Amino acid sequence: MRKKAFLATAVIAGGAVLGTFAVAKEQLPTHLKELLELGMHPGHVFADEGAEYYHNMKGPNGKTCASCHGQDGAKLVGAYAKMPRYYKDIGKVADIDLRILSCMTKYMGYDPKDKKFKKKYTKKLRVPLSTYVATLSNGMEISVKLDDPQEKEMYEYGKKLWFMRVGGRDFSCGICHTVLAGQRIRLQGLPNPVKQKSYNHWPAYRFGSDRMWTMEDRVRSCFKAYLLSVNQWDPKKDWVKKPPPYVKEVIAIELFMKHASNGGVIEVPGLLR
Ligand code: HEC
Ligand code: HEC
Repeated sequence: MRKKAFLATAVIAGGAVLGTFAVAKEQLPTHLKELLELGMHPGHVFADEGAEYYHNMKGPNGKTCASCHGQDGAKLVGAYAKMPRYYKDIGKVADIDLRILSCMTKYMGYDPKDKKFKKKYTKKLRVPLSTYVATLSNGMEISVKLDDPQEKEMYEYGKKLWFMRVGGRDFSCGICHTVLAGQRIRLQGLPNPVKQKSYNHWPAYRFGSDRMWTMEDRVRSCFKAYLLSVNQWDPKKDWVKKPPPYVKEVIAIELFMKHASNGGVIEVPGLLR
């Protein structure tokens, strides 16, 4: 499906202007550099799909995203640069994934207890919608403030989790991404998302797995791949596989990383090998 959509777009976009891409070109393997030179960025397919949902997908109450946030996302320009942040209407610090889900249940008539809807959102709608909304902040500097006490608390929690050693391997996010950053693991270079302000290229398209990912996906997957952990932060929750989406722990880590990326210029969708 994805591949087909991508190819179709590639044909239409053939020779089109080069889109935004964030990753330093020299870091990309040749086949990806060639794609970009042809003006083809598979991540744009997802942003376009998100724009389509944004304008045309009606909730059970007949509202679209555009009914409240304006044509072409007019009122959401710059919003992504300040997220995650505290929202009074939902009483939570939310990242992009959770914010959009909350809008759909609170303002569009979807039932928050409807498991089928939640699954559809998580699997199908979340990534394109988040990607589209993120593109509305392209060219702007990340500017996460910690004005609200709830934001400060989440930030501190995220920082603590970043350095907390857990799991069968006794790893922490920070061991790989702060202490060992720059070295290689399984032949992959270890990035330093905190120092390098790499939040600026998320959501990103990962060519190797042919997938578009938001930062939630990245954090949850790193968790699964490297920490191999029962959730020692809260032993009642078993996270040997992956933390579930939209949990506080993941959003706290996102807030910590995004704050560290303040000043970085947003260029999404990113493109990673
Ligand atoms: C009936 C109106 C309504 C609809 C429909 C709606 N939202 Fe919202 N949205 C809100 C309100 C209210 C807020 C909270 C604004 C605040 O506190 O700054 C919000 C906040 C947001 C934010 C954060 C904005 C910011 O400045 O940080 C995003 C992003 C967003 N909505 C996306 C969406 C998307 C995508 C859809 C469609 C799937 C959608 N919304 C549908 C009312 C709506
Ligand atoms: C054992 C090492 C290891 C641990 C522990 C680990 N990661 Fe990663 N992480 C990686 C590798 C390797 C990559 C690069 C993968 C690639 O090239 O696609 C990565 C990529 C990332 C990226 C993308 C960076 C960029 O430049 O875009 C983020 C963000 C990230 N990890 C966050 C986390 C968080 C949060 C945790 C803790 C929950 C964590 N990682 C734990 C190895 C690790």
